[in-house]
Amino acid sequence: MAELEELLQVATDMLDRAYTPYSHFHVGAAVVGASGKIYGGCNIENASYGLTNCAERTAIFSGIAAGEKKFTALLVTGDTEQAIAPCGACRQVITEFFDQDAVIYLTNQKGALAETTVAGILPGAFLALK
Ligand code: THU
Repeated sequence: MAELEELLQVATDMLDRAYTPYSHFHVGAAVVGASGKIYGGCNIENASYGLTNCAERTAIFSGIAAGEKKFTALLVTGDTEQAIAPCGACRQVITEFFDQDAVIYLTNQKGALAETTVAGILPGAFLALK
């Protein structure tokens, strides 16, 4: 299966695992580790709302916990009208673990697909210590 289709499949499967008793808004994400393995993530909410972990960060942190050091691609999806995009906090975390030209796929469950890069979603990122 091509990378894009596989990422979309994994991220879509993650939608069912989202823990969203507060927003009821399910988000799924998938990332490709430098090893070539794919890791999925879902959003995980908390009664203390600010502790919510977005799907993108769950996917990245799962990969890091599995031994990855870097990632080459990320896809995010949701059951929305428009393709969904990572929040600002996730953009900063993505910047930590991806090269600036790594591919970011923004999708929904209706076939919308926009392709961008890490630099495209967080221009002017703080890179001085990387
Ligand atoms: N959410 C994500 O998981 N990823 C995003 O990029 C945007 C927002 C989640 C957080 C929260 O559980 C719900 O969507 C509503 O904000």
